[in-house]
Amino acid sequence: MARFVPVDPFDIVIFGGTGDLARRKLLPALYHRDKDRQLPGESQIIGSSRQSLTTEAYRESVEENLRKYLGPDELVPDVVERFLGRIHYAQVDLADDRPWDELKSLLAEHRTRVLYLATIPSLYGNAAERAAAEGVITDRTRIVLEKPVGQNLESAQEINAHVGRYFSESQIYRIDHYLGKETVQNLLALRFGNSLFEPLWQRAHVDHVQITVAESLGVGERSGFYDRTGALKDMVQNHLVQLLCLVAMEAPTSMDHEQIRDEKIKVLKALRPIGVTDVEALTVRGQYSAGTVDGESVPGYANEVGEATDTETFVAIKAHIDNWRWAGVPFYLRTGKRLAHKTSEVVIQFRPVAHSIFDEETGPLSANRLVIRLQPNEGVTLSLMTKDPGPGGFHLRSLPLDLSFAQHDQVRYPDAYERLLMEVLRGNPALFMRDDEVEAAWRWIDGILAAWDRAGLKVNPYQAGSFGPMRSEMLLDRDGRSWHV
Ligand code: BG6
Repeated sequence: MARFVPVDPFDIVIFGGTGDLARRKLLPALYHRDKDRQLPGESQIIGSSRQSLTTEAYRESVEENLRKYLGPDELVPDVVERFLGRIHYAQVDLADDRPWDELKSLLAEHRTRVLYLATIPSLYGNAAERAAAEGVITDRTRIVLEKPVGQNLESAQEINAHVGRYFSESQIYRIDHYLGKETVQNLLALRFGNSLFEPLWQRAHVDHVQITVAESLGVGERSGFYDRTGALKDMVQNHLVQLLCLVAMEAPTSMDHEQIRDEKIKVLKALRPIGVTDVEALTVRGQYSAGTVDGESVPGYANEVGEATDTETFVAIKAHIDNWRWAGVPFYLRTGKRLAHKTSEVVIQFRPVAHSIFDEETGPLSANRLVIRLQPNEGVTLSLMTKDPGPGGFHLRSLPLDLSFAQHDQVRYPDAYERLLMEVLRGNPALFMRDDEVEAAWRWIDGILAAWDRAGLKVNPYQAGSFGPMRSEMLLDRDGRSWHV
């Protein structure tokens, strides 16, 4: 069992406390931490939204949601009771100027205080301003901003500046929940906790890198939001770019959060901009049409939205990092909805051996490949050439050296939000994005969006249940490569 670093008693206020994120992720995550006895006695969880609700009614809805989102064996009556005892409700409309008296009466003066904005990003600046005007910001107050921070570079800069007027950077926690996933953190352990890989982790030995985040779900009820957003902003700007940074960054000198962020920002700054002349060759936009996923017929995206639309539900990008370590090594990124199955992985494809001593009889040599599976079946596979056993000759084959993280003694994989919430409470921002990181990521993404626009690059249809449009295969095929899955 991992060593637990305790947290001080706290009050966490969840703005957007009746919303989807709070119900599906934040409250179940806090429940799990309470179940493991990691929430100090008097800590409180205060839900807040525009709705007028009593604490009793809010507790009832929280209990109902725990029953909906947690397995029956996870619901322990004593823990549910203790957890619900921590829950309070205070009505606050972040868009108006009514005083926060109800909320303030619940807050304890000297505890760690977390203001979690699970709301639309356009309210972030105002929320920070109101918190300052109401005098609820103490030295021990932290503010959490959900992704996306803005819709483009300009709005991200505005939000950062607005929130930054009232909170110091060390008090601001910008969430990208991928950084809370165990396997994403394992990337750091794998790279910097072993002497084996790091010497090979560079252009002389790596042929290319693939990062795939494939989802089998469609956009469902989120089509309104999604249609204004698209896969590039929803997934690449944050999750895929963050993964790319962790794969490509230099070794930080320590696990100190500033050191890690300093290394990530260097990668972001080295990302080669994609302009109108190369956008067609380097990117693919796709949109799912009707098809079959997991044996079930599903409608096309435009059908779900209710009209024809050019929003992409799939993106593939061939990216380059212009620095000494990665010059000439393509990073292929790919994400999409309604793909054949849910799978997220990072693939490090090594170069072939310099010279083969084997002849055709022994079988072809496959270059080594390291696959880091983020979800599901979290683990790492390294493919190695081995000799087929037996005296009948000398035949080679590629075999996987498989490390499944499920073999670790910890049975349940905590949700990313459990980890991230505890890090906020501990005051450790290492797994959160700094203002300049978010802005650098938007700068690169804005460039691609502008290039799509100027080049008039339309979405390519792909059948739900496939792995995206044909052009995505061609992106690698042209380079004599193919996607791993
Ligand atoms: C969110 C996106 O950030 O990540 C969603 O807004 C996406 O569109 C989700 O479905 C994927 O997260 P996970 O943890 O299920 O891979």
